[in-house]
Amino acid sequence: MSARPPAHRGEDQGRPTALRRALIIGATSALAVLTGMMVIPDANAAASTLGAAAAQSGRYFGTAIAGGRLGDSAYTTIAAREFNMVTAENEMKIDATEPQRGQFTFSAGDNIYNWATQRGIKMRGHTLAWHSQQPGWMQSLSGSTLRQAMIDHINGVMAHYKGKLAAWDVVNEAFNEDGSRRQSNLQGTGNDWIEVAFRTARNADPSVKLCYNDYNIENWSYAKTQGVYRMIQDFKSRGVPIDCVGLQTHFTGGSSLPSNFQTTLSSFAALGVDVALTEVDVTNASTSQYAGLTQACMNVARCIGITVWGVRDSDSWRSSESPLLFDGGGNKKAAYTSVLNVLNSANPNPSTTTSSPAPSTSPTTSPPPSGGPSKIVGSQSGRCIDVPNSSHNNGTRVQLYDCHGLTNQQWTYTASKQLTVYGNMCLDAAGSGNSAAVQIYSCNGQTNQQWNVNSNGTITGVQSGRCIDVWGTGNGQQVQIYDCNGQANQQFRLVAL
Ligand code: XIL
Repeated sequence: MSARPPAHRGEDQGRPTALRRALIIGATSALAVLTGMMVIPDANAAASTLGAAAAQSGRYFGTAIAGGRLGDSAYTTIAAREFNMVTAENEMKIDATEPQRGQFTFSAGDNIYNWATQRGIKMRGHTLAWHSQQPGWMQSLSGSTLRQAMIDHINGVMAHYKGKLAAWDVVNEAFNEDGSRRQSNLQGTGNDWIEVAFRTARNADPSVKLCYNDYNIENWSYAKTQGVYRMIQDFKSRGVPIDCVGLQTHFTGGSSLPSNFQTTLSSFAALGVDVALTEVDVTNASTSQYAGLTQACMNVARCIGITVWGVRDSDSWRSSESPLLFDGGGNKKAAYTSVLNVLNSANPNPSTTTSSPAPSTSPTTSPPPSGGPSKIVGSQSGRCIDVPNSSHNNGTRVQLYDCHGLTNQQWTYTASKQLTVYGNMCLDAAGSGNSAAVQIYSCNGQTNQQWNVNSNGTITGVQSGRCIDVWGTGNGQQVQIYDCNGQANQQFRLVAL
């Protein structure tokens, strides 16, 4: 995914419409027994899962997933229900993906990727260059040989996951507590190793966000935080490609939430990067610390999401500290509720946003292609907007797929600005906020089914003003609307068939 501008988290008045439609249809089909349950939720009803609650302000809520636990149904039930982002806890690390030099193995990482993708859950990649969890062959390398091995590793792994991930932690934990560089074998290859890693990564997959990730960088006045901040500032000033900073946010092992955490987040964000809390856990799951760290993220427009480092306490790498949101029995802990409440009360338009809102005047609209059906081709991916499995079901989310011109990729732009498929179904925005799904739905004449095909190469929703957008380029990438940002992942053109 390419870099996004600061997110403007706009009005969400379309979301209840889609929810209500789904509820009405579901309830109608079972009317005899469900009449008494046809309660349409209030437009501002609180979401009941972490992922849905975070999505209300355009953010995600994720978890680390351990591949070995995917066979545990209690685990996967919670994970699939609550989270809309995952990170492989160990399976995409260097020792897992390149156990012998030049021999890549992706099966463990792919298992998690496939599990997530099949459930519409996005994934962060973790991690490409790190002093820890290096395979034995890499640990013994140094100098230019190690530098080349790092570059080869980044290229090998990123080629495999190209177009599939939301972000990569390109470099992990490269600083000492005093703000100097950690004396690892990678550092020994030259101080420029980090920027070389980022430049290599950008070339390997221009569509994915590139993050620097570290722990103990949550306290703004701490030397390590300042050291990392200066590096990001330097990278931005010199054009080294970097899109985000991941703050691990391990408030375990003796650390706790600093009072200036929000200052740290907003200070990094002010450099022009997104920030994310990437590995959250808190000793004994203190409700005040969990609520506080969540609130700090909600208060910073460019804090794009929160990931906890495991599902249940029993899954944690620090299980003796019971630091997660579910207990070993899978029950929601008090900290879960404190996080959910903060997510649900988040302002969809954080005041610290620095982006301009979606334009109130649309760009010039091109004349619709004449006559019959067109394919909608993403310029970055070369792939077409496609209805998965040729489904005719209301609410089926559209995806990118290799163009083949069959009816599930044939869209007709009508005089009333609809993009119809199969004659009577419309391309439909399931909401108007950032990241709202783009799906098919029976045509109903509403503005969430009207689109401007613009001369600047974007397609914008009439209701939302937002652009049709994808987070990657691969087959199966889901389509959403997002603030128009002028980048290639929002370029779509109608090509007559
Ligand atoms: C940890 C995993 O949770 C453990 O299973 C593994 O044994 C060691 O690594 N910072 C990171 C994560 O970036 O990759 C680490 O994950 C925790 C600290």
